[in-house]
Amino acid sequence: MKIALGSDHAGFPLKREIMEHLKTKNIEFKDFGTFSEDSCDYPDFAERVGEQVASKNYEFGILVCGTGIGISISANKIPGIRAALCGDTFSAHASREHNDANVLALGQRVVGSGLAMDIVDTFLNAEFQGGRHKKRIDKITMIENKYSK
Ligand code: RB5
Repeated sequence: MKIALGSDHAGFPLKREIMEHLKTKNIEFKDFGTFSEDSCDYPDFAERVGEQVASKNYEFGILVCGTGIGISISANKIPGIRAALCGDTFSAHASREHNDANVLALGQRVVGSGLAMDIVDTFLNAEFQGGRHKKRIDKITMIENKYSK
């Protein structure tokens, strides 16, 4: 499993903790920035990570900003990206099982680091259930195709 990581300045410290956490689990990852707490714009990093996941270079993405909102909205503009903003472990496994989410978004100003690591583990260990959910994912793709230029 290969993970693409990204954050803005507000998510940078939590992203660093997540990287340390992934190392302890021997999970391969690459950080697509930002690389400091200097002010920057979250769409830039959502785009970098989203492109990597949409092109299947990486299986999953993890994005962090202050709330997780801006960075998830941005990532979801990329066709093929299903970014789920999760603040609890129930949403984290449901986002994989029901929505086949391929990007996890977190808000550093919202979740503590202990909960964030549990959310990451839950997301990465859950599997898409297919079946009736597949039809719904196909409908998401149809909406994407309808509005793509
Ligand atoms: C940055 O101050 C903050 O607006 C950003 O990290 C994020 O929370 C936006 O959704």
